Amino acid sequence: MTTSFILNGKKVEVTAASDANLLWTLRERLQLTGTKYGCGISQCGACTIHLDGNPVKACVLPLSAVEGKEVTTIEGLSDDNSHPLQQSWISEQVPQCGYCHSGQIMQAAALLKKTPKPNREEIIKHMNPILCRCGTYTRIMKAIEKTIQ
Ligand code: FES
Repeated sequence: MTTSFILNGKKVEVTAASDANLLWTLRERLQLTGTKYGCGISQCGACTIHLDGNPVKACVLPLSAVEGKEVTTIEGLSDDNSHPLQQSWISEQVPQCGYCHSGQIMQAAALLKKTPKPNREEIIKHMNPILCRCGTYTRIMKAIEKTIQ
């Protein structure tokens, strides 16, 4: 079956099996490898992307679910890491292993789009679904708070 959607601002059409999954379509068919596979069961958040502006976990999303919708991956956030969150992530040296951080940034970007000046409690609540096994949570908080200053 063919699925048409807007991916990082451009219309794409992908023909795939009816049970094709969004994460693997992004990574293997469309070569957008910034979105990571962690658990595959909607528990870690490494695969977080935006669907019509909302953060969702691509590992449990069928490709067919994005028909006619807008998908944004970390590659679509900016061409050159110039998004304010990416700049804060760099200046605060947030990542340790780095594996979860595209998901972390996509989750944070969705928050700031809807709530440009969230308080600490709102940030913690919103970022809670995205796990970091290295425990960089303090630096993640610092980078988000730096971005909204
Ligand atoms: Fe999707 Fe873990 S890989 S939530």
